[in-house]
Amino acid sequence: MIKITDNEFLDFVQYMHKNFGIDLSKKRQLIEGRLSNMIERKGMKSFSEYMLNIKKNTKEEVSTLINKLTTNYTYFYREENHFKYLQEVILPYEEKTNKLKTINIWSAGCSSGEEPYTIAMVADDYFKYKKQDWKIQIIATDISQDVLAKAEEALYMEESLKLLPESYKKRYFIKEKDKYRINLDIKKQVTFKTFNLMENISEKNKYNVIFCRNVMIYFNTETKLGLVNRFYEATKPEGHLMIGHAETVQRGQTKFKYICPAIYKKE
Ligand SMILES: C[S@@+](CC[C@H](N)C(=O)[O-])C[C@H]1O[C@@H](n2cnc3c(N)ncnc32)[C@H](O)[C@@H]1O
Repeated sequence: MIKITDNEFLDFVQYMHKNFGIDLSKKRQLIEGRLSNMIERKGMKSFSEYMLNIKKNTKEEVSTLINKLTTNYTYFYREENHFKYLQEVILPYEEKTNKLKTINIWSAGCSSGEEPYTIAMVADDYFKYKKQDWKIQIIATDISQDVLAKAEEALYMEESLKLLPESYKKRYFIKEKDKYRINLDIKKQVTFKTFNLMENISEKNKYNVIFCRNVMIYFNTETKLGLVNRFYEATKPEGHLMIGHAETVQRGQTKFKYICPAIYKKE
């Protein structure tokens, strides 16, 4: 097994933090454990050689690296109180006040698509036949091309649908052997794109809701705060930010107002 030297480890940690916000300073074993076989298989002799390759390499290589070091684990209707809040508070508010009838939602760190598709289902369930009067745009982004390819394929194992209300399962999926495919109406509501959350966010005051859940677990406090501030600029006044329940945003350090666990608002 190829070992990582102290210098290689420092270099690797700095590179991952600077470029992707991912804090691996306490993950030496994980880095070695998850990467050394792959490095060997590529015919390389050391972490330095691999790093040289990564630094000048394609998005695909980088995507594989991130996949190896982070988890893409996700499922439909995860942390349901966000979806209930969307259905019971946010969408009724938009229906009453949104004269342009346009709703922009961003699923940032969407993994294989279960989160943005759940959002599309909730919006469909809320508006029902009135949906055709509305422009509901769901943008879903992730740094990993592998998970985005899965999201585009839109074919899921039953396991992933376990928490989804039965009526959603019936209405929004087509069964294909032992798997479930998202129906076309829901699928076309979501646009997937590659995006690294460490980059500048050019849209200002655009999103009615941003979901960024179970992504910031990898980021240190400073990186997290920087991202939350960029989300703030990108959110419309009266818009919301949803984070994972295991995550925290330091209250008082962001302009978002705390509403309830894992839900924040731009006032
Ligand atoms: C555990 S999944 C979360 C999926 C979904 N939001 C949920 O809560 O179930 C975390 C995702 O964040 C993505 N990610 C990690 N760092 C990122 C970055 N710097 N920019 C964009 N996406 C990132 C990973 O590729 C992974 O797909």
